[in-house]
Amino acid sequence: MNYQNLKKQLIAYGQEHVLAFWSELTSVQQQELAGQIEKIDFNLLNKLIRKTQHVQEYFSGKMEPDNVVSLKERKERDTEMRELGEALLRDGRVAAFLVAGGQGSRLGYDGPKGIYPITPIKNKSLFQLHAEKIRATAEYYGITIPWYIMTSEANHDKTVKFFKNRNYFGLNADDIMFFKQEMLPSVDLNGKLILEKKHRLFMSPNGHGGALKAIWDSGALKDMQKRGIRYLFYFQVDNVLLNICEPEFIGYHVRHNAQMSSKVVRKAYPEEKMGVICKINGKHGVVEYSDLSEDDMYARTQDGELKYWAGSIAVHILNVDFIAQETDAGFRLPYHVARKNIPGIDSSGKKISGDEKNGYKFETFVFDALAHCTQTISVETAREDEFSAVKNNTGLDSPETAQRDLVKLYKRWLQKAGVHITGDEDIKIEISPLFAFSDKILVKKKNEIPEINKDTYLGN
Ligand code: UTP
Repeated sequence: MNYQNLKKQLIAYGQEHVLAFWSELTSVQQQELAGQIEKIDFNLLNKLIRKTQHVQEYFSGKMEPDNVVSLKERKERDTEMRELGEALLRDGRVAAFLVAGGQGSRLGYDGPKGIYPITPIKNKSLFQLHAEKIRATAEYYGITIPWYIMTSEANHDKTVKFFKNRNYFGLNADDIMFFKQEMLPSVDLNGKLILEKKHRLFMSPNGHGGALKAIWDSGALKDMQKRGIRYLFYFQVDNVLLNICEPEFIGYHVRHNAQMSSKVVRKAYPEEKMGVICKINGKHGVVEYSDLSEDDMYARTQDGELKYWAGSIAVHILNVDFIAQETDAGFRLPYHVARKNIPGIDSSGKKISGDEKNGYKFETFVFDALAHCTQTISVETAREDEFSAVKNNTGLDSPETAQRDLVKLYKRWLQKAGVHITGDEDIKIEISPLFAFSDKILVKKKNEIPEINKDTYLGN
């Protein structure tokens, strides 16, 4: 598109200011900016800008608790659910799906979050940790587990290169598919597009809900169908305690005829920053912590339990058919508006500090697909077994807490297996998923493990 046409289009939407530096740009830079502008769906953008004028403080729907299989109930049912899940794994019906397109801004790491070195002794990256879990599970069941990885423009090339340079961590490259999610522009408080540089709009990934569209657009859905995959185990890059493709979870999902299921933990305290699984105006869903009213946050049942205790840990199973249904007639997840610090330049080309919440980002959330499910089930798990996420650089939910939780998990597994751990309290232990990816498997390897009295890595 030439300059005149670009300008005409931008004027129609009141966004022509983004061409302010056009004459200063090289032709390559002009092409970059024009390319970004051409990809914008201005009708959608206008709708999103209108949304910024009605950002509500609290979510305003009728909430009710939803069905959850509690830990207590699981004691009776897990054996049967495990058998069911294992049969589906052995039949090659399950794939892993990682969403890793986020910007990891809170961690502040220069590179995709998945590259971050995290394990307590070997400093394996988050990607390697997940890859080894998938490989170990596949080897254990004698199957292939295809792995779909969603990235974004912001981190795609670095992610793919990281895997390639490390030989895909021993996985078959043909069974890993990388694809990008879409990016959306951000706007300032007046609804104007923000320039990150004179030749570039500030864009951010369209949220993890963008996964559903990206699976369709990239051809991943066709690939899943071709391979006979029926269930996708959805997970996020930053949880180090993930139990990837856990058969019990698959079993519950299928037994309850669910289209999408969720793993939950009990909220540690009412104000905890976790979305809660519930029904919203009669539909399944998650209410984000920032949308929870004080009444709902502190509400208790008659026996004193938190009414909304089921915190989502962003682990789901989705039916491939359900994803097809969700995307066949076009992407239909709602967009959420978040006021954020957006680093950009002002009309004179000077950098904006980014210290203030100066604009809006638009995101979709995968859990909003729950609203379209006729059947869904949530399964409770113990937080110390399955949830510790790397979100911040220090403090709560940081690399330090994630490493601590990994070491604690490995120590519990070893104690369960009857292995003696003596010596210093601070002894670090790391168990490679390729040695044992669950406590049950570790028990079987008990005789291979010496008494532990110093930092120890168990791997092969
Ligand atoms: P978060 O919501 O924690 O965001 O993502 P983030 O980008 O990792 O970190 P902050 O908020 O900028 O600090 C949870 C998971 O969802 C993925 C992330 O990669 C992570 O695995 N995600 C998030 C996407 O894949 N795409 C997105 O647009 C947003």
